[in-house]
Amino acid sequence: MSLKTAFGSRFKIGAAISRKNLNTKQRTDLLLKEFNSFTCENDMKPMFFLDEEENLKDAAKYNLSPKLRFDIAVPYLEFAKKNDIAMRGHTLVWHNQTPKWFFYEDYDENKNFASRDVMLSRLENYIKGVLTFVQDEYPDIIYAWDVVNEIIEEGDYRRSLWTKVVGEDFFIKAFEYARKYADKNVKLFYNDYNTFEEEKRDLILEKVLKPLMNKGLVDGMGMQSHLVLGEHDLDLYSKALDIYGKTGLEIQITELDIHIADNSDEAMDKLADMYEKLFKILVSAKDDRRADITSVTFWNLQDEDSWLTSFRKETSYPLLFHNEGEYKKAYYSVIKTA
Ligand code: GLA
Repeated sequence: MSLKTAFGSRFKIGAAISRKNLNTKQRTDLLLKEFNSFTCENDMKPMFFLDEEENLKDAAKYNLSPKLRFDIAVPYLEFAKKNDIAMRGHTLVWHNQTPKWFFYEDYDENKNFASRDVMLSRLENYIKGVLTFVQDEYPDIIYAWDVVNEIIEEGDYRRSLWTKVVGEDFFIKAFEYARKYADKNVKLFYNDYNTFEEEKRDLILEKVLKPLMNKGLVDGMGMQSHLVLGEHDLDLYSKALDIYGKTGLEIQITELDIHIADNSDEAMDKLADMYEKLFKILVSAKDDRRADITSVTFWNLQDEDSWLTSFRKETSYPLLFHNEGEYKKAYYSVIKTA
């Protein structure tokens, strides 16, 4: 039994991996044994596709169509192709991990911001370049893209260089371009964190999903699902899942982990319980057709890899595996919900 065989009839099951994971046999063995999907933790973000050196060197040439590099993404795509494992693309547009120079006239931070028209052209050509490359060279590997990540914050659209230089509709434009260049079977997602909080959930529905759905530009809602043991309320989570589900969009759980900074037996029992509750919610929402969940991705493979340890500044034990591939109690509590 493995996660992918247990859940395979319901949804894909994945993990985020880093460059180091990709080059560590124990990690790739674990990934291929348990999962049928993966996401690049970082290496498909704009800062890694945008070729800084070339763009800055010849800004006139690349002003409207940034020079892209694919050498960082290729090893993941090759791995996926060779091992017949699917990928989620993450993320075409984000306020983070996108170089600041990208937003300036001549890619020069000492100059003014670029005009809206120039930025839209850069955005379109960026999306076109990334999608065309992966689709032409590695067809049918990436089944879904997070087109836009995290644009709702504090009761409104998040202020960022995107809203400043392009305007609040930049996300609509991004989805228009993604729709234009994505293969028909590639699903386009909006992705965000704390998507189960009522206020944020309603804003996402109203200010992001509704305008995109009216134009037929979005296929799915990505619920990141960075949870904290003892803090997050799974009733709210379940309610949000139903509400997003009612839109008819696909739902993908894109970045699942449950932070806990204690690895005592009691704490790990509690972690297992929370995962079990969560997966019962996911499975019943899918089986009862309340939410069309098509993929569930853990954010990292095993505890030692988790981003939470540096983010929270305390060692986190949030995943299903630890100690170089040992299965935790949480693994068994998840698999028994299938
Ligand atoms: C967000 C992003 C991810 C990742 C995590 C932290 O959730 O969407 O790409 O950066 O933060 O690792």
